[in-house]
Amino acid sequence: MNGVTDTAVADNHALSGTAAMGHAVAQGTIDVSHGTILYVEDVTVSFDGFRALNSLTLTLDVGELRCVIGPNGAGKTTMMDVVTGKTRPDHGKVFLGQTLDLTRMDEPSIARAGIGRKFQKPTVFEQHPVWENLELAMQADKGWWASLRAQLNRDAQARIEETLETIGLEASARRFAGELSHGQKQRLEIGMLLMQRPALLLLDEPAAGMTDDETMALAQLLDRLRGTCSMLVVEHDMEFVAALAGERSRVTVMAEGRVLAEGTLDEVKRDEAVIESYLGR
Ligand SMILES: Nc1ncnc2c1ncn2[C@@H]1O[C@H](COP(=O)(O)OP(=O)(O)OP(=O)(O)O)[C@@H](O)[C@H]1O
Ligand SMILES: [Mg+2]
Repeated sequence: MNGVTDTAVADNHALSGTAAMGHAVAQGTIDVSHGTILYVEDVTVSFDGFRALNSLTLTLDVGELRCVIGPNGAGKTTMMDVVTGKTRPDHGKVFLGQTLDLTRMDEPSIARAGIGRKFQKPTVFEQHPVWENLELAMQADKGWWASLRAQLNRDAQARIEETLETIGLEASARRFAGELSHGQKQRLEIGMLLMQRPALLLLDEPAAGMTDDETMALAQLLDRLRGTCSMLVVEHDMEFVAALAGERSRVTVMAEGRVLAEGTLDEVKRDEAVIESYLGR
């Protein structure tokens, strides 16, 4: 049992295809029998009459790492606010898997259902060692503690060690989080999210404020997580996006509250509408 391998998503959230076979999906599980982890359809959010999201439709496959780019004010953060329950849409559907209607759930329930969100500013416990930050984050994963009380210590330790390795902070385990560089803090916060074994991770401009080296270390970390959880990454740094998307992953371009284009990075870069509204000539 561990937090960051291929089995992590399955053993915690029981990503199941059983619904397709006619079985009920147990409470707290995510039914991804159709291969979709996130389904957003025709979502509109208005602020004083201004449509921050305007009929946004977007789906994310299980295990997919999707980069979302687009100009300031395109609605990228608002989209994440809707998915995490921070903002209620005026209209539209938002589902986690086939069955979990996120528009009917509050923020804590959505987090417990398996959606982890990384905000731009790192929020780690500065006065605590790196190791303890991960331990505290794991304690928020109540189901896990309850079900494994018997061999708690050994498993907990293994999970923390594995996460330390994933986020590249093994050598810093005993340092206070407050002493870490900005990039290391960002990786620690991602580690803390991983301790709760999310099925879907939302990252809003994770590379902002990072040095080039830190940015590439982050790209490597997210690349390592590929397949263990689904990820939606909003980012302006095109080198970072290129490193994550590679030649094959889908990239979504948002503008004016909706999807302007979707395709490989090469495809969207050649899209006339994208050049016009975002990339420039
Ligand atoms: N709580 C709010 N009240 C009023 N307007 C809002 C609110 N939140 C967002 N907006 C507006 O909605 C639009 C979309 O904002 P959003 O933050 O989602 O864009 P974004 O794509 O994340 O932009 P950026 O790349 O600058 O982060 C903007 O015009 C913003 O001013
Ligand atoms: Mg934003």
